[in-house]
Amino acid sequence: MAETPPYLPWVPYFVLLITTTLISIPESHSQQSPAYLGFVTNATEFPAEDYYDYIIVGGGTAGCPLAATLSERYRVLVLERGGIPFGNPNLMTQDGFLNTLIEVDAYESPAQSFTSEDGVPNARGRVLGGSSAINAGFYSRADRDFYEKSGINWDLKLVNQSYEWVENAIVFRPELKNWQSAVRDGLLEAGIDPYNGFSLDHVVGTKIGGSTFDSSGTRHSAADLLNYGNPLNINVVVHASVERVILASSTVYSNSKQSAIGVVFRDRIGHYHHAMVRERGEVLLCAGALGTPQLLLLSGIGSRPYLASWGIPVAHHLPYVGQFLYDNPRNGISIVPPAPLDHSLIQVAGITTSGTYLEAASNIVPFASPARPIFIRSPGSSVYLTVATLMEKIIGPLSTGSLRLASIDVRVNPIVRFNYFSNPDDLEKCVNGTRKIADVLNSRAMEDFKFHQWFGGREFRYVGAALPTDQSSDVEMGEFCRRTVSTIWHYHGGCLVGKVVDQNLKVIGIDALRAVDGSTFTVSPGTNPQATLLMMGRFFGKKLLRERTR
Ligand SMILES: Cc1cc2nc3c(=O)[nH]c(=O)nc-3n(C[C@H](O)[C@H](O)[C@H](O)COP(=O)(O)OP(=O)(O)OC[C@H]3O[C@@H](n4cnc5c(N)ncnc54)[C@H](O)[C@@H]3O)c2cc1C
Ligand SMILES: *[C@@H]1O[C@H](CO)[C@@H](O)[C@H](O)[C@H]1NC(C)=O
Ligand SMILES: *[C@@H]1O[C@H](CO)[C@@H](O)[C@H](O)[C@H]1NC(C)=O
Ligand SMILES: *[C@@H]1O[C@H](CO)[C@@H](O)[C@H](O)[C@H]1NC(C)=O
Repeated sequence: MAETPPYLPWVPYFVLLITTTLISIPESHSQQSPAYLGFVTNATEFPAEDYYDYIIVGGGTAGCPLAATLSERYRVLVLERGGIPFGNPNLMTQDGFLNTLIEVDAYESPAQSFTSEDGVPNARGRVLGGSSAINAGFYSRADRDFYEKSGINWDLKLVNQSYEWVENAIVFRPELKNWQSAVRDGLLEAGIDPYNGFSLDHVVGTKIGGSTFDSSGTRHSAADLLNYGNPLNINVVVHASVERVILASSTVYSNSKQSAIGVVFRDRIGHYHHAMVRERGEVLLCAGALGTPQLLLLSGIGSRPYLASWGIPVAHHLPYVGQFLYDNPRNGISIVPPAPLDHSLIQVAGITTSGTYLEAASNIVPFASPARPIFIRSPGSSVYLTVATLMEKIIGPLSTGSLRLASIDVRVNPIVRFNYFSNPDDLEKCVNGTRKIADVLNSRAMEDFKFHQWFGGREFRYVGAALPTDQSSDVEMGEFCRRTVSTIWHYHGGCLVGKVVDQNLKVIGIDALRAVDGSTFTVSPGTNPQATLLMMGRFFGKKLLRERTR
């Protein structure tokens, strides 16, 4: 049983497998209706055809701030395949995090689950707000290196202004409870210093980062940024699955370059609609690292022989669409503490100089077997268990994977493979990170989380695999990394800058078409990517506004 790879999110697989009842989240605080509800409509209500300046495919982490910003001056349409997060207590509260990831179905649930060919269960957002509406809420800006290495044409002043715009709206300072404080102290004892206190910046050492959950545990996501949209200019359409980009040979250019002129989407009852771009308008793909390359392929933009193998008419041969897909491996341990802990998602980060970042979470999970080492009787008389997790993710990674179509039905998740640790550098970073976890476990701050043995002495009770006993052995530690690999859901790439898009994120060889999301990233920015993706939406919105005034 200990060999089972840890599953969603930091709780080992078997704990979830034997789970019979889910925690029910009380609708404790009735939240105010967000302003964006005033301009959200159902795809079924959309006319057969309509015209916009900007069509944004995917109302996700980058898509929402991009749309809100462009609506300052232009007519904007957002097409999102999922529904709205507001009113769903699992999505709107920190305590609902696990439930959202457990309660999945093929076509409707806000979290779409998939398992990569590597055998690692994973998830992607399918709701307004995208993955920022289902994630763990940790918020931390990109590392300095990212701006240079990303290949994107950044303007660092506008980058900072864009972060600030996001942060003023949806980022909060978290309050550390027992497990997160102990981890912070343990990271410092393990030599991950200095202590940088609360900071949104990427700084070496140990820090408290930002959170998109507020002090009452309510989630804020990219969807909230739609509230800053101009209601007269913006239309957000939900339950709209975009099936392809419509291309036409542009008459303006003699070289017969293709240009995006609109998109085809389908509503929930299966009716087709066309959204078309006005002159000088653009189609902006914000469907994420899996959705954007998938949509390009379905639109005939990709490798010619590959598209031909699916019988998709080739509009433009672009060989690297779906190639260079990455996922940062996550490894770590989970323990059951002797006394119950507060529920916490990620709040503290250890930023090392040895290729790895350390983070932690503690979850209260319903637990069916009373024969387990420790359990707590809740008022509702179900058996609950706290699981505390300490994890590391590596920087990069360098190991590359790829994406292939599983179907020409856009609703079916593409087949992905990440090839975790196929690059030896990645394995070395994991070994470095796993040794740091060992150092934290050996710290004084962790003593309280051990059990007293009846014969004296204290030890941890692990859920899932413990670290190898010989932690000096590179072979054993590397074996642990491979055997227990899991995901922290920071997958990215598939439409890399320089390979599929240019430094302004324009799809190479096609006019009026850009990709603005994590599909363009070669490395995952900072410790966790959502800050950068939210910033990126705002940044490109401002950039496009500037370009058009020239
Ligand atoms: C469970 C989980 C926990 C995470 N925890 C954290 C964390 O704590 N901190 C952090 O920084 N990051 C975290 N991440 C990662 C982060 O949330 C993502 O990297 C980021 O949100 C991706 O942004 P994006 O804009 O590229 O894509 P997304 O936000 O996923 O947006 C893509 C959107 O496009 C829509 N879409 C796709 N295809 C179509 C189509 N054909 N038609 C219409 N719409 C379509 C999708 O429904 C979705 O809304 C987590 C991710 C997950 C899944
Ligand atoms: C959209 O339609 C669904 C049913 O298909 C319904 O539950 C939902 O309330 C509708 N939402 C809006 C914004 O009209
Ligand atoms: C952007 O902000 C960071 C701190 O978050 C600062 O170090 C940097 O100098 C700023 N850059 C510009 C160009 O304002
Ligand atoms: C692993 O850690 C050592 C010691 O800090 C460092 O020298 C080495 O570069 C790290 N490996 C990688 C791949 O980052």
